[in-house]
Amino acid sequence: MTQELTSPSPAPQAPGTGRGPGWWRDAVIYQVYVRSFADSDGDGIGDLRGARERLPYLKDLGVDAVWLTPFYASPQADGGYDVADYRAVDPLFGTLQDADDLIRTAHDLGLRVIVDIVPNHTSDRHPWFQDPELARQRYLFRPGKGESGELPPNDWESVFGGPAWTRTDRGDWYLHLFAPEQPDLNWDNPEVHAEFEAIMRFWLDLGVDGFRVDVAHGMIKAPGLPDIGHGAQAQLIGAQVLPFFDQDGVHAIHRAWRRLLDGYGDARGKQVIGVAEAWAPTAERLALYVRPDELHQAFNFQFLNAPWQSDALRSVIDASLAATASVGAPTTWVLSNHDVVRHTTRLGGSLARARAATLLMLALPGSAYLYQGEELGLPEVTDLPDEVRQDPAFFRGGRATGAVGPGTDTESAPDGVAAGGQDGFRDGCRVPLPWSGELPPYGFGPGGSWLPQPADWGGLTVAAQTGDPASTLELYRAALELRRRLPGLGDGPMSWAPAPDGVLALTRPGLLCTVNTLGHDVGLPAPGTPLLSSAPVTVDDATAQLPGDSCTWWAI
Ligand code: BGC
Repeated sequence: MTQELTSPSPAPQAPGTGRGPGWWRDAVIYQVYVRSFADSDGDGIGDLRGARERLPYLKDLGVDAVWLTPFYASPQADGGYDVADYRAVDPLFGTLQDADDLIRTAHDLGLRVIVDIVPNHTSDRHPWFQDPELARQRYLFRPGKGESGELPPNDWESVFGGPAWTRTDRGDWYLHLFAPEQPDLNWDNPEVHAEFEAIMRFWLDLGVDGFRVDVAHGMIKAPGLPDIGHGAQAQLIGAQVLPFFDQDGVHAIHRAWRRLLDGYGDARGKQVIGVAEAWAPTAERLALYVRPDELHQAFNFQFLNAPWQSDALRSVIDASLAATASVGAPTTWVLSNHDVVRHTTRLGGSLARARAATLLMLALPGSAYLYQGEELGLPEVTDLPDEVRQDPAFFRGGRATGAVGPGTDTESAPDGVAAGGQDGFRDGCRVPLPWSGELPPYGFGPGGSWLPQPADWGGLTVAAQTGDPASTLELYRAALELRRRLPGLGDGPMSWAPAPDGVLALTRPGLLCTVNTLGHDVGLPAPGTPLLSSAPVTVDDATAQLPGDSCTWWAI
């Protein structure tokens, strides 16, 4: 470790440092799934150096910030969401110096950096869990039921499938809402609070600009850990409050963290943020996580789960905007991440819809999250052989993280892909990125890739798409460039304009965005001059023909 590690590089200077409007209110944040982004050392696993080398690509793409998924010391039972040491970089991904270098390079390029924090659970290899005395105080151990304690303490199920309890060789049971290698922490213990505040300060001192809070709805469990009374509980996540998810008690933790983040930022004239990965049954309950004294943003999974239908999209957008407006927070929008089926596949296996959905998302007020590879139009890889899979949900017969909710477009799923275009597991959206060349690993690194890449990705590489105006990559670049240039995009007002059935029309200052969700052309009076379209739009005699499954931005 070098001296520089203690003197963080300055965050990019932009309007909104200190208190005030806030850079994050309309930021476009790009999710780097480190393991699959770029590999510098040829072991087939993406790493921090690889990510750092590719930061100029992200700058050129036009995003404002990157979110790095966990790169901390971990046995990798759940892709690094099982952390054994929150202050160390796993050798798979590099060193602390590499993290420091990455943050500095990002800041030099004008990009902010958000890192994951995982507070609901640790790895079972964490020193706290390894020490039986400490473990009893800092995790959730309970005696079993039945004559000799042979039954789990209650009927809770793990999100990944099977019971949420594992019995120790001492005879008692510990709670793990995810894999058995991820024991849940006891947030009634003040030492747990103190430790997470110290971890945040550690990474803030290294210069990060914020945290994505994993399972931000999970830390507090209902008193007495009551039974739920029936099975298939993973299906209820995000549909109702559960005794282990979205308990009101979590908000006190977020309030304390907001005080920490504001205090830290104020002392340094910068804004550092918290974004909640929270599953709440309604937009109103989700908005509680972004009250002025809680976290800055929460992922809006209701939008992600909306089917490709104009009425459904409109009502999700309205509900999201109304709920966040009620607490003065900006809305976030997201279509893909490392837990869900890529939206090209999820929206009926249609790249046209995926491109249109992205342009719609980028026209909405608030902040948008992009997941690596969506800018290439990558589909979900649906034919991975079982022997290469690593998602713990696959081995436990459960599902991902609750990310697949009601309303997913199930009707037009391609053959061989289950409801919503998915098999319920997450390796298919985590296949390493194709950068260049005709053959795997397509420039991902000097070695192979930890998951096999499809043989037909040669046309989807960054190199193949760069400079091709019809490519999805150039569509993203153009949209992000316009978003930066046009004052009416980003944070600010939005209203609906009249539109035929199946079409959405929304106005932002100086701009109108049309979305044709139907599978065929729709004609309407041209609303202005086309600025950007996800598919070729024609205007003849003041009549615009909107191609099926397309989105167009018009200057008005
Ligand atoms: C992360 C998942 C992870 C889970 C448990 C999430 O919501 O996004 O990838 O498996 O939390 O940490």
